[in-house]
Amino acid sequence: MNKPVLSEAQQNFRNAMSQLAAAVNVITTDGPAGKAGFTASAVCSVTDHPPTLLVCLNRNASVYDTFKTNKVLCVNTLGQHHTTLSNTFGGKTPMVERFEKATWHYLCTSSPVLDDAVVAFDCKITDISSVGTHDVLFCEVLETKLGTGHGLIYFDRAYHGLNRHP
Ligand SMILES: Cc1cc2nc3c(=O)[nH]c(=O)nc-3n(C[C@H](O)[C@H](O)[C@H](O)COP(=O)(O)O)c2cc1C
Repeated sequence: MNKPVLSEAQQNFRNAMSQLAAAVNVITTDGPAGKAGFTASAVCSVTDHPPTLLVCLNRNASVYDTFKTNKVLCVNTLGQHHTTLSNTFGGKTPMVERFEKATWHYLCTSSPVLDDAVVAFDCKITDISSVGTHDVLFCEVLETKLGTGHGLIYFDRAYHGLNRHP
């Protein structure tokens, strides 16, 4: 498939965003529309009352309808050993193969929870807002699971392992 031609404003925005470091997450769901997952760096906290985060999802992604129908998701924050898993969930890999690359369990929703995630947020989608090409999914956090390990960061169009500053 041909790459889309970007305007100068779009290219400038992407170049600028490449300098904003972000945690890497695999977002999963399961429910009436089936199981799906994708890699996302556009995840952030909204408020702690009620505990809410947001996830930005491209409406052209193959997983879009599945998330919108299931109305639940789990944000699985990746560790520095998860670069292959990030690329698997961030590419065009068939869905069954994506989930075969790791082991999973469940919390209170039916969304798969990555066994060795640095942290996992099990959520129900409470609101959706469309902006340009993406939907902003507002997600109320129903349960969290703290793991161990250091986070995986995406910065300057490359992965970086996170280490504590001395
Ligand atoms: C590091 C990284 C971060 C990404 N962040 C997002 C994101 O925040 N939102 C999004 O919609 N897609 C994001 N993507 C792209 C999706 O993961 C990718 O479009 C999706 O997995 C492809 O799905 P499809 O082939 O099933 O359509 C990211 C990909 C990578 C590798």
